[in-house]
Amino acid sequence: MTAPSISGPRLMARLRRMGEIGALEGGGVCRLALSDADREGRDQFVAWLEALGLTVQIDVIGNIWGLRPGLEEGPPVMIGSHIDTVATGGLYDGTLGVMAGLELVEALNMAQIQTRHPIAVAAFTNEEGARFAPDMMGSGVHQGALDLAEMRATRATDGSAVLGDELDRIGYAGPVPAASMTPRAYLELHVEQGPVLEAEGVAIGAVTGVQGISWTEFTITGQSNHAGTTPMSMRRDAGVVAAEIAIAARRVAGDAGPPQVATVGVLELTPGLVNVVPAEARLTVDLRHTEEAQLAASEARLMAAAEAAAEAEGCALTARRLARFGPVTFDPALVDRIAAAARARDLTVRRMPSGAGHDAQMFAPNCPAAMVFVPSAGGLSHNVHEHTDEADLVAGAQVLLDVVLDLAGAVA
Ligand code: GLV
Ligand code: MN
Ligand code: MN
Repeated sequence: MTAPSISGPRLMARLRRMGEIGALEGGGVCRLALSDADREGRDQFVAWLEALGLTVQIDVIGNIWGLRPGLEEGPPVMIGSHIDTVATGGLYDGTLGVMAGLELVEALNMAQIQTRHPIAVAAFTNEEGARFAPDMMGSGVHQGALDLAEMRATRATDGSAVLGDELDRIGYAGPVPAASMTPRAYLELHVEQGPVLEAEGVAIGAVTGVQGISWTEFTITGQSNHAGTTPMSMRRDAGVVAAEIAIAARRVAGDAGPPQVATVGVLELTPGLVNVVPAEARLTVDLRHTEEAQLAASEARLMAAAEAAAEAEGCALTARRLARFGPVTFDPALVDRIAAAARARDLTVRRMPSGAGHDAQMFAPNCPAAMVFVPSAGGLSHNVHEHTDEADLVAGAQVLLDVVLDLAGAVA
């Protein structure tokens, strides 16, 4: 049996090709979930799966996976991630994990290696949640944590479309039912999207879990009026309340201390004119923490501050939950296997939690799941300049291959 080996040129060629789909001028990509660019990326992924001889499956929420049979029937060892991006995304977030899955299968095919258990390579719908909240939507439906009908009814964050219509429009509402399969194990290679591995000069992260995520959309309603004539004491300024909520979010994070983080990523004022007191404001707050109790405490503090700010300004406040996922712990034995596989290849490795959300977290309650991280240059992600050196990408893919072979059982 020839030892299967990851090919850097093949991996990079697929990453670059996917990076052309939805390419932004000046670098980076925009493949928002269920957009035309996402459809083009999906078509390319399906073509690659078919070229590798895999059986393509598409489920009701548009998740796509290819199956490589094993000598025995039964659930596959699944490798997955996503090919949708934020509107100002890089080439690697999500796409790396999917391209590494394809490369891994090609390496096995080239070395003519059969496995005892089947292997699946998957791309999950709308991991980012940038166009339709919540994030991890496809993997959530796949693992029965999110309801299909509710997800199909989701309106886009800019109000422009409904998810189910978009899924139908791009032709990716497939026949496989939701929650139809629990893999034997689930593995995901991903860029770290943070600064730790690079700063410490470590090649591989063996990811121990994912912090909890809470997304809330606040809508504040006041009264629009003339900016020149309305005395300050007589205003019901929705914009001021939004600003106070944004400052409160920062304060909540500061008071709680690390690893509490808080981000206001969307802030819109209506009518949005220079000489009009805003009648309405809409903003989103993303809160994350590794401990459930602390995350809940921060949510409560923020809500109290938002209510107080609205009341003081005589405005109405509504809060809508866009996403809520508790912290997740990955399978310790699988994390150990990843660390051992890295060491066996003389790669430096550290255990670490993930700050970002990932499809792997939706599998963790149902089957052994874990992740492999590789360094992100400058810690940048959700940024068109996201970068990881080829040698690091290949090292991560090789560790993934070694662990998959171990789990799927190579047969000479
Ligand atoms: C999803 O990618 C997130 O962490 O926001
Ligand atoms: Mn990702
Ligand atoms: Mn992302």
